[in-house]
Amino acid sequence: MKKVIKNGTIVTASDTYEADILIEGEKIVAIGSNLPEAGAELIDAKGTYVFPGGIDPHTHLEMPFGGTVSKDDFETGTIAAAFGGTTTVIDFCLTNKGEPLKNPIAVWHNKSKDKAVIDYSFHLMISEITDDVLEQLPAVIEEEGITSFKVFMAYKNVFQADDETLFRTLVTAKELGALVMVHAENGDVIDYLIKKALDEGNTDPIYHALTRPPEVEGEATGRAAQLTGLADSQLYVVHVSCSQAVEKIAEARSKGVDVWGETCPQYLALDQSYLEKPNFEGAKYVWSPPLREKAHQADLWNALKSGSLQTLGSDQCSFDFKGQKDLGKGDFTKIPNGGPMIEDRLTILFSEGVKKGRISLNQFVDISSTRIAKLFGLFPQKGTIAVGTDADIVLFDPNVERVISADTHHMAVDYNAFEGMSVTGETVSVLSRGEFVIREKQFVGKLGRGKYLKRAKYGEVISNKEEISI
Ligand code: URP
Ligand code: ZN
Ligand code: ZN
Ligand code: ZN
Repeated sequence: MKKVIKNGTIVTASDTYEADILIEGEKIVAIGSNLPEAGAELIDAKGTYVFPGGIDPHTHLEMPFGGTVSKDDFETGTIAAAFGGTTTVIDFCLTNKGEPLKNPIAVWHNKSKDKAVIDYSFHLMISEITDDVLEQLPAVIEEEGITSFKVFMAYKNVFQADDETLFRTLVTAKELGALVMVHAENGDVIDYLIKKALDEGNTDPIYHALTRPPEVEGEATGRAAQLTGLADSQLYVVHVSCSQAVEKIAEARSKGVDVWGETCPQYLALDQSYLEKPNFEGAKYVWSPPLREKAHQADLWNALKSGSLQTLGSDQCSFDFKGQKDLGKGDFTKIPNGGPMIEDRLTILFSEGVKKGRISLNQFVDISSTRIAKLFGLFPQKGTIAVGTDADIVLFDPNVERVISADTHHMAVDYNAFEGMSVTGETVSVLSRGEFVIREKQFVGKLGRGKYLKRAKYGEVISNKEEISI
């Protein structure tokens, strides 16, 4: 079945132009003026931008964490993602020390395969490096196409790995062609600050932020970057929230170290004062790293603009306010960490970024899709609009004004972190490999249609082994 998209403005990471797009099956087969309509379904994109589908490199769907499980799973989470203009998610597969890696990978396949409505892939958490783990990693890359490994430098006694594990992961990743991702906060110092706060009777949600100051993020980011340089490896710092971490990434990059940085919509649009909301509502805004003083936001935007930060992930990890976040009433350390972000990622970047002149339209596409595809081995199958690529396409109305609310969102949780925020721009229709998932703001997709994506090694193109410059 053919489809032709007409009358829209195509936007890629490098160009903005008017042209038709011809889709045959799952692929884009032609781009040009006045493409023939005969035998094709006509999609009128008048008044919209035609973007490559968003890629969310950072989700935690149905993840056990903090004594509960994140509420949005691969069904509700990917439906909400699609409503927001995202056509691919990469979720974190958690591992346990000593357990064969194929077990948690199988668990993640089972969580996702009958549910996902858009395409998806996995990163693999490295909890410790042993000879046994080292032996299994080549198969993880070759057979599963998992080419990014995540190390946590925080969450002491839960996920936190030591520096030996981080360093050996960096060395191994270089050898095998994988990208190392870090959650960069100094977990030992945080542990001390938390104990001190609790000893002093400070139990409210705001102490989540006060016990994880920006210095602990800056320090861990700098440490990870230095170790990357030493290993001559490659690093991607997830959820960068503060000026201190931005500085460390920029400094490493200026010295030629291969370090990349991701921020998230919550750090661009919300600030630490949200954790002080009365009636325990501050708990809605508890995630790690925490929200920062407002002054950090300008540095994050400038870093996206200048290229010191390159991507936007959602860090989707949603918990209901009632029944999950309230596990931490009377003790902020028991509030499950995470927020519902998968749906509003692109709107926040567009409305707060493009519309307010902080980034360009083409940067918007690069930050939300193209760069992510290149870093995580999905390019050019995903991440751009070009002949031969998957027809993952978003029609986006750049002028509609609306208010974000849990009353109208599609995530499974009982609140929205951006509740009441006025934004400009909305996803109208979404195609995933040539089929509508969202059509005129209605969900028309199918559970389980999303395909698991095996990814290319770091710096390689998905369809062949040619090198790309990233
Ligand atoms: O608080 C957060 N960010 N929850 C999800 C897990 C993580 O650290 O990314
Ligand atoms: Zn598999
Ligand atoms: Zn994290
Ligand atoms: Zn995360």
